[in-house]
Amino acid sequence: MAKPISVNIIGSGNVATHLLREFLKHPEIHINQIFARKLQNLKEFEDVAPMINDIDLLKPADITIISITDDAVSEFSKKLKNYRELVVHTSGSLDINDLQTEQKGVFYPFQTFSKLNKNINFKEIPILIEATKKENLEVLQKLANIVSNNVLEINSQQRFQLHIAGVLVANFVNHLYYQAGKLLEKNNLSFDLLKPLIMETARKVQNLSPENAQTGPAKRNDKLIINKHLKAIEDKNLNEIYKLLTRNIEETYKK
Ligand SMILES: NC(=O)c1ccc[n+]([C@@H]2O[C@H](COP(=O)([O-])OP(=O)(O)OC[C@H]3O[C@@H](n4cnc5c(N)ncnc54)[C@H](OP(=O)(O)O)[C@@H]3O)[C@@H](O)[C@H]2O)c1
Repeated sequence: MAKPISVNIIGSGNVATHLLREFLKHPEIHINQIFARKLQNLKEFEDVAPMINDIDLLKPADITIISITDDAVSEFSKKLKNYRELVVHTSGSLDINDLQTEQKGVFYPFQTFSKLNKNINFKEIPILIEATKKENLEVLQKLANIVSNNVLEINSQQRFQLHIAGVLVANFVNHLYYQAGKLLEKNNLSFDLLKPLIMETARKVQNLSPENAQTGPAKRNDKLIINKHLKAIEDKNLNEIYKLLTRNIEETYKK
């Protein structure tokens, strides 16, 4: 077997944890060191790789992945200013040049990660990579191809737009699940009732375009029902969200 790719992971949050869980499954990847401010967050990896909470102890690796809060990445990367090897971040909305390091790159796994969810199939996750140098892009490609069947090189501007799209389809939709759940709870109904509808809505767009898949009162321009719904939605913010989305759907399908 060729020499494994060595990787340092910086961070102990959702993404760092999932990357570690996945990388450890592949003998072609060697976890060199893990850095976190609070090592107690990384207990599950205690026996698998050296852990440090002093960044000055970081040893060279082919790729160092900074996976921390977006707001902290640029400042943190300054600590690696004199580090000679490739350093990447995992953020959708940060530019590659937000890294204050000599060798820069991005390794963006386009999925929603929560530590508590262990069922993630990395093979299906698009991994968007970027680097300023050809040789760095190649090593990122190598790492990404070990874990995923869906690797693409895109630039920071494209990744930024992709992140916005992700917020729409994942974070906003999930928030609507939350709001829908509250409505049901108030009426002694279980969130489980929504699950087949949620699944079918997600399944449908695997084959149909979202435009063709749309149904509902706004698409049908069913004013009576829309007004009845609006009268019944007491929560002011939810009422606004309903109105705005309805107007936007109506405008989309206006002949
Ligand atoms: N979650 C997702 O679904 C997802 C998907 C794709 C990409 N991303 C990107 O991946 C990165 C990490 O996201 P996440 O969801 O894993 O975050 P997270 O779960 O909120 O974890 C944030 C991590 O950042 C560390 N941190 C915060 N400020 C720090 C600082 N000043 N110095 C050192 N460490 C610091 C925290 O350490 P402490 O515990 O010590 O505070 C924690 O380990 C972000 O760039 C995010 O945009 C997230």
